Amino acid sequence: MSERVLVVDFGSQVTQLIARRVREHSVYCEIVPWHRASDHLDPPPGAIILSGGPDSVAAESSPSIPPEIFRSGVPVLGICYGQQAMVEALGGRVSAAQTREFGRADIEISAPSALFEGLWQTGERHPVWMSHGDRVDAVPDGFRAVARTDAAPFAAIADERRRYFGVQFHPEVVHTPDGSALLRRFVRDVAGLDGSWSVGRIRTEAVARIRAQVGDGRVICGLSGGVDSAVAARLVHEAVGERLTCVFVDHGLLRANEATEVEATFRQRFNIALRTVDAEDTFLAALEGVEEPEAKRKTIGRVFVEEFEEVARDIGADFLAQGTLYPDVIESVAPSGGPSVTIKSHHNVGGLPERMQMQVVEPLRELFKDEVRELGRELGLPESLVGRHPFPGPGLAIRIPGAVTRPKISLLREADRIYLDAIRRAGLYDDIWQAFAVLLPVRSVGVMGDRRSYDYALALRAVTSLDGMTASVYPFSADFLAEVATTIVNRLPGINRVLYDVTSKPPGTIEWE
Ligand code: XMP
Repeated sequence: MSERVLVVDFGSQVTQLIARRVREHSVYCEIVPWHRASDHLDPPPGAIILSGGPDSVAAESSPSIPPEIFRSGVPVLGICYGQQAMVEALGGRVSAAQTREFGRADIEISAPSALFEGLWQTGERHPVWMSHGDRVDAVPDGFRAVARTDAAPFAAIADERRRYFGVQFHPEVVHTPDGSALLRRFVRDVAGLDGSWSVGRIRTEAVARIRAQVGDGRVICGLSGGVDSAVAARLVHEAVGERLTCVFVDHGLLRANEATEVEATFRQRFNIALRTVDAEDTFLAALEGVEEPEAKRKTIGRVFVEEFEEVARDIGADFLAQGTLYPDVIESVAPSGGPSVTIKSHHNVGGLPERMQMQVVEPLRELFKDEVRELGRELGLPESLVGRHPFPGPGLAIRIPGAVTRPKISLLREADRIYLDAIRRAGLYDDIWQAFAVLLPVRSVGVMGDRRSYDYALALRAVTSLDGMTASVYPFSADFLAEVATTIVNRLPGINRVLYDVTSKPPGTIEWE
């Protein structure tokens, strides 16, 4: 990777957005925690961005900038906490502000700067997003103020000679309308990176890397029906051809048509060797009477590994390909400093590589979900697969609170299909991160025709999200929800009440279990 921007993470909630914005300008970008930053300076990156963070530089033991960064000669942009830490490190002064600034503010451009060229003129005012308590009071030698707000005299600062810049506001969030253009100025113009990073290039580089890693070994790849494993499999297939075998463990907890679609795509369209394991009976037997969410997840994970292991042994592969994404591997800085608690144990082929002494191939480790989707399109995967909403490994089992039975799975699968069809017909599918139905273990009384019913309630969920870490409820119209509810209750005996889940994440999670 020739050109790269290093984002030094001080624990801001929006650090990932910095990387995404930079990548949108066709420059490769990676995030490292602040205490590891000095390990990533050889070879030096083309530019460094210091993220925001929850700490105060005034506090003892607050995170600091490794001094090697300022010896590297690389252009630096400090954002919020990053700006304050830079000022402190280079001899300026930071203090707790009298008024905390949070939310929208207008900055006034007070002097020209390379950072603003062609974008913001001296004397203009522009809306930005602020979120800070501390503020810069005196800049280090070589710096001057280039923008201010009523509350912050140093809303943007610059040392043009060393190419060091600091902004008090957050250019990475959409609430700073010109923020993305400002980041582009920094990486493309100030730092002079040429923006040659593209999906086509990711493909070529990934294929070369897989070939180098695998040599003439054999690879297996577990397909889940989701985008990530599908794209990983296509890439590996491009790299090693028939030495790849895909394995699809059908646990009987998939969405409607999922299993058939995976087979059609991989076996027929791409001619990739595919072993399908029909393990519905085994999974449902293991799940019998299991009600507690974590117990369900662990049971499914265990059976999955057992089933997968059996085929894997038979195929005799040396490598296991996985669709791990960048958000899964970023070592982010927990604001509290402590280890984070396990909310849910995510199910993947955990422990398999060690047990079977296989090496792991993870061609998507550096990519975000939207980049994986773009790569999938480039690789010719059908839109129905590439644009599909995420689906959890344990499948419908974690959308049936309480005991999982065959009749409940069929009922939920059908309700889910009706709901998703309605969303597609309304043209809303691509605006939503994830939509699905949950079959509740609650029965209530209803009346249909002249008959009393006593049936299950179904919850509908739809959220928007960037990466699944946080989520907002999708604002369907009341008419749309009423229509879906009527269709489901009319068509599906067994369900007589439909609810819409209006909980965001946090405090809810996206899935119910
Ligand atoms: P939660 O429910 O934790 O979900 O808010 C966040 C995102 O992760 C998906 N999810 C999973 N994906 N294996 C997966 O591959 C799992 O065990 C799993 N559990 C949740 C969930 O669908 C959402 O997109």
